[in-house]
Amino acid sequence: MPNVVVIGAQWGDEGKGRIVDLISEKVDIIARYQGGNNAGHTIVIGEEKVVLHHLPSGILREGKVSVIGNGVVVDPKVLLEEIQNLRLAGYKADRENLKISDRAHVIMPYHKEIDKGREESCGNTKIGTTGRGIGPVYEDKAARRGIKVSDLIDPDALSHRLREVLPDRNLYITKVLGKEPLDFQEIFGEYEAYGKELKEFTCDVSKLLNDSITEGKNILFEGAQGALLDIDFGTYPYVTSSSASSGGACTGTGVSPTKIDSVLGIAKAYTTRVGEGPFPSELSGETGERLRELGDEYGATTGRSRRCGWFDAFAIKYASMINGISHIALTKLDVLSGFEKIKICTAYRYKGKVLRDFPSNNHTLSECDPVYQELDGWNEDISGVRDVSELPPQARDYLDTIEQSTGVPLYAVSLGASREKILFLNEIF
Ligand code: GDP
Ligand code: IMO
Ligand code: MG
Repeated sequence: MPNVVVIGAQWGDEGKGRIVDLISEKVDIIARYQGGNNAGHTIVIGEEKVVLHHLPSGILREGKVSVIGNGVVVDPKVLLEEIQNLRLAGYKADRENLKISDRAHVIMPYHKEIDKGREESCGNTKIGTTGRGIGPVYEDKAARRGIKVSDLIDPDALSHRLREVLPDRNLYITKVLGKEPLDFQEIFGEYEAYGKELKEFTCDVSKLLNDSITEGKNILFEGAQGALLDIDFGTYPYVTSSSASSGGACTGTGVSPTKIDSVLGIAKAYTTRVGEGPFPSELSGETGERLRELGDEYGATTGRSRRCGWFDAFAIKYASMINGISHIALTKLDVLSGFEKIKICTAYRYKGKVLRDFPSNNHTLSECDPVYQELDGWNEDISGVRDVSELPPQARDYLDTIEQSTGVPLYAVSLGASREKILFLNEIF
């Protein structure tokens, strides 16, 4: 089994948790490398559903080590609750199978305050963030006024660092957002306690991962969000604030590109997006609503309705180039049963011209119209199918067209949320 990066190839919620849970069986270590608890990764085991926000989806597999890399931003309260809830549900989450980078940055109360305050005050231009403080914490990291896990677990360092950075953030909260300043003692007391609890999990994760590779162990890097939400390559400014692309796996863990063997892209058999921003293949009418209801497209983190549309092969082609996607795992094909016609967006038309490349500019993208290829749908319930040959010919045709229009071969097709509802088309691990 190679060292593999698993990324979302669309705008998030592609089913990364579901696929990572499946293939984590084959690896030794599962590492998250970016994002924070804006992520919501759902895993269904039998009748049980687990939604993970901070912890890697491999945490549910016995005998595996789960890692939170330096590129992740950690909300200690949420992380501790998640650990507690998993333990209550009978899963193991202790210092043996969970390692947190001491270089990861900490989401502080003022980050959440600023995230929500900004979204409230900017009306039409809001991003539609998850309100988890993600933008402001990465901003502080880049501005060199962040608080790292290594500070959190050392009361002197925490006190020193918080005294340095809080006045600046309070100035922003009071003068720009017109809100009440946050109190040093209150934050320090609460966060010092979190630091004490988290200390046992922390280590130099880069060393752990590199040593493990030297010992012959293999790693699955679990991306959060998706390629089109990446800070550099996504539909900026309607993106998240981290490197959700495969490149983020290196900067977010300290494992070099020479040690990564392949990239698996996860894509839904249609497209969804939560929050604001351009979405050329969006279906605003009845068909979109039908997809939302059949696919249960409500956010795993905020519960918001996901916007729905047809599969966008043009966007996936772009995501594939940026990320070096070698194969795709396609999820939720079962949701498309019962549609008389199904469309695939193969290109964008801008001001009457068909574009050759995915636009880098938000203004252009928001004025693009999709160019569709229309296919026949199928009526059969396919959730019980266990071999590709049992799929209706229209469904097989749909899969072939996805491979042709994206230029990427399929690794697997998921036909339901639970572990057994999967078809493997190519064995790559
Ligand atoms: P992630 O953020 O990429 O991990 O995806 P989410 O967990 O936010 O959203 C994916 C949703 O689709 C979850 O509710 C999964 O349980 C569900 N899901 C995943 N694969 C399938 C599938 O093949 N069919 C169906 N019907 N649901 C799926
Ligand atoms: P997973 O890992 C889908 C979206 C938000 C918003 C934008 C910025 O479950 O796929 P942020 O709070 O990150 O500053 O919000 O990004 N977003 C996601 N959409 N899935 C996610 O994660 C997301 N994480 C953030 O809705 O549009
Ligand atoms: Mg999600």
